[in-house]
Amino acid sequence: MPEQTLTIADNRTGESYTLPIENGTVRAMDLRQIKIDADDFGLMTYDPALMNTASTRSAITFIDGDKGILEYRGYPIEQLAETCSFLQVAYLILFGELPSEKQLAAWTYDITHHTFVHENIKTLMQAFRYDAHPMGMFISTVAALSTFYPEANEVNDVENRLVQIKRLIAKVPTIAAYTFRHNRGLRYVYPDNDLSYTGNFLNMMFKMTETKYTANRALERALDVLFILHADHEQNCSTNAMRSIGSSRVDPYSATAGAAAALYGPLHGGANEEVLKMLSRIENTRNIPEFIQRVKNGEGKLMGFGHRVYKNYDPRARIIKRVADDVFEVTGRNRLLDIALELERIALEDEYFISRKLYPNVDFYSGIIYQAMGLPVAMFPVMFAIPRTLGWLAQWQEMITDSEQKITRPRQIFVGHPRRDLPT
Ligand code: SDX
Repeated sequence: MPEQTLTIADNRTGESYTLPIENGTVRAMDLRQIKIDADDFGLMTYDPALMNTASTRSAITFIDGDKGILEYRGYPIEQLAETCSFLQVAYLILFGELPSEKQLAAWTYDITHHTFVHENIKTLMQAFRYDAHPMGMFISTVAALSTFYPEANEVNDVENRLVQIKRLIAKVPTIAAYTFRHNRGLRYVYPDNDLSYTGNFLNMMFKMTETKYTANRALERALDVLFILHADHEQNCSTNAMRSIGSSRVDPYSATAGAAAALYGPLHGGANEEVLKMLSRIENTRNIPEFIQRVKNGEGKLMGFGHRVYKNYDPRARIIKRVADDVFEVTGRNRLLDIALELERIALEDEYFISRKLYPNVDFYSGIIYQAMGLPVAMFPVMFAIPRTLGWLAQWQEMITDSEQKITRPRQIFVGHPRRDLPT
């Protein structure tokens, strides 16, 4: 077995250094010994957007981008999506093992009994304009939750952390539904503890004059699968934000609001909203060739395609396509699906996309399903934030309990003015 080391020859000094290689990495701090003289700060790595930097060790999610593999705690996403509920997978991601029947019952009870929000939250949300973007309301309201639970900043207390984690997992569907009802000018619907996590979400979203809301089983299950697929995805942009904000030891509500803000971006969780706008602009399969040409001319992106890690088909997109069929059985087929399928067919044959390894990602089909379920496009990033809140919290907890982690504070290469004095 060859020695797991890297030898670096510094041609500036003729010195050489041997660094240990662990898990396919060298520690950046091991480079600091490489100096030209005693006053030299030592070598750093320069890695804009952290394209080639492991920021943590994590046991939660494994992705193989070349093979299109996604596993939560070792279980393949395909098997979890096929056989589990979102709350089962949430337990797995958070605690590392699937819950026993007794553990799942207790977990479900706890989450179910934390779904209410303080009445003042309703008043707070009234302050938003009627047409406020739901994601802006979601981010602000999650941050506001930190003011209702001041004890949440005791982040080193295990039991206290768990209470806040359960509160957030339970309350984000309630807040999400309230943003939708606010936009529609409808009264808020209180949680119904007789319903499942996704059934209750549909209740809070769509209950009208009926005494008791009954969710369509196929839609309830489709949402469960969509929430499982969106639950976690290792060190993506918003998770990195969660870890970085959380590293200052702020409470998890404030950190989650920051992570949701990162997710809101059109290159990240906001992409599903952009996909629907793109499909609507294309309007007809006849217009696809011209649209593709504009993308190839650099006049825009094929939203919902491409991924920093997946250089193969996003396994979640494959599953979501199957969920779409189940949903359209109930809602009727969304005509935009024909445009999406034709776009995918063309893109998968076109050298421009093949050479850049651009495949459909999780956002390409999810919006079509949400639209068919009656959700407005602006709600799509919120639909991503609901399940990802669980992933952010699991990653946050792993960071808090990782003895190697400290407050995140990268270095820089200074390229500005050298010292200069103000004109006298
Ligand atoms: C999510 O990280 C995660 O895990 C995220 C996520 C999760 O679960 O948390 O999976 C969720 O955010 C999925 C991604 C959703 N975003 C989109 O669908 C927006 C469209 N996609 C892109 O903007 C882009 O593909 C990214 C942001 C997703 C990834 O970009 P990278 O890795 O920084 O790659 P890049 O922008 O450097 O692109 C490489 C090349 C470039 O071409 P050249 O300059 O070399 O000629 O590919 C091109 C890009 O222009 N390219 C695209 C494209 N994506 C990349 N060209 C057309 N359409 C696209 N969608």
